Amino acid sequence: MDKHTVLVTGGAGYIGSHACLELLNAGYEVVVIDNLANSKTESIQRVQQITGKPLTFYQADIRDQQTLQSIFSQHSIATVMHFAGLKAVGESCQLPLDYYHNNVYGTLVLAAEMAKAGVRQLVFSSSATVYGESSEVQYSEHFPLGAINPYGRSKAMIEDILRDLAAADKINNNPAPWKIVLLRYFNPIGAHESGMIGEDPNGIPNNLMPYVAQVAIGKLPQLSVFGDDYPTRDGTGVRDYIHVVDLVKGHIKALQALTGAGFQQGGCRAYNLGTGQGYSVLEMVDAFQRVTGKTINYKIAPRRAGDLAECFANPELAAKELDWRAEKNLDDMVTDTWRWQSQNPNGYA
Ligand code: NAD
Ligand code: UFG
Repeated sequence: MDKHTVLVTGGAGYIGSHACLELLNAGYEVVVIDNLANSKTESIQRVQQITGKPLTFYQADIRDQQTLQSIFSQHSIATVMHFAGLKAVGESCQLPLDYYHNNVYGTLVLAAEMAKAGVRQLVFSSSATVYGESSEVQYSEHFPLGAINPYGRSKAMIEDILRDLAAADKINNNPAPWKIVLLRYFNPIGAHESGMIGEDPNGIPNNLMPYVAQVAIGKLPQLSVFGDDYPTRDGTGVRDYIHVVDLVKGHIKALQALTGAGFQQGGCRAYNLGTGQGYSVLEMVDAFQRVTGKTINYKIAPRRAGDLAECFANPELAAKELDWRAEKNLDDMVTDTWRWQSQNPNGYA
């Protein structure tokens, strides 16, 4: 039997590179398209080194319709894992058109080329940021959506488009319907246990863990803790941090579900990928200090605009329908973040 081939968009990036590694290890054939807007080919080299298996890499933009067409004609792609996108919330407020063009239009071009090629299995990287404000802090998939910035809205729009695609199959009685899984990530952190691939942010990191890691290694002088007056157990923001390896294992489970009996009629379903456990900023700093023995210099700073006090996943639907649960704990996340950071103080450079 032919191997199941997966097209990974954004496969050179942080989460995509970990997905490529997990797919190769699980015996899938991997084709990557990435325009390297926020990544380097070194990640792809290292994935091949770690697994001892080759993958096919195209340096191209998903908005380049001709390249996509040629990829679909040259490879017998069964499923697409779609990670490619811009992801910085602050930047999306400054450059909304870039975000909508890259994320929304990019997905339109991709989906149209998939349909032409008869490829209708898709796993999409969505985000917990699509959820609207809620009085409950543990988010379930049926909660109302209502993103509050252009990045989040680009994800919400893509979710709508993909739901519409699946709904159209029902009206048209499409015999080969779309099978789509939307994965709403909470806060991915950590790195592969080899320490060879990890998150390599451009410039000063926006996110907590890469920032803490760069303070620990001496590249940044001090962490600003954004707010200590939230209604949380220690006043600092609480999030659901999830190990990137657990996260990508959730993608493999989603892929298996798409090809299984539960999806025979097609459809589009959303799942949270989180641990279900929240940690505060100060708890994360404490864990980092305890596990690495490094002192993290920090100060309390004003709240950051747009931040929620507390947000974590209800992960039960993914457990029930995808047979997936996060397995790694906070110490694993910190240990692996630190191994990557200390072995690669300048990332892939
Ligand atoms: P990343 O920036 O490391 O990876 C994205 C990759 O996509 C990069 O390699 C980039 O070069 C590539 N890319 C961007 N636009 C492209 C285009 N038009 N054509 C081809 N390649 C393109 O980000 P990541 O953290 O690995 O995130 C992967 C996906 O997960 C993104 O869609 C992101 O929005 C989503 N997500 C990430 C987080 C997070 O905290 N990291 C949380 C929720 C959702
Ligand atoms: N924080 C600090 N100091 C920093 C950075 C962050 O105190 O220098 C705090 C934030 O205020 C927040 C927590 O650490 O309380 C986590 O912040 P991150 O920026 O790491 O993560 P967010 O929860 O804000 O956002 C992340 C991604 C978004 C995604 C969202 C939900 O950056 O893209 O998770 O998936 F949409």
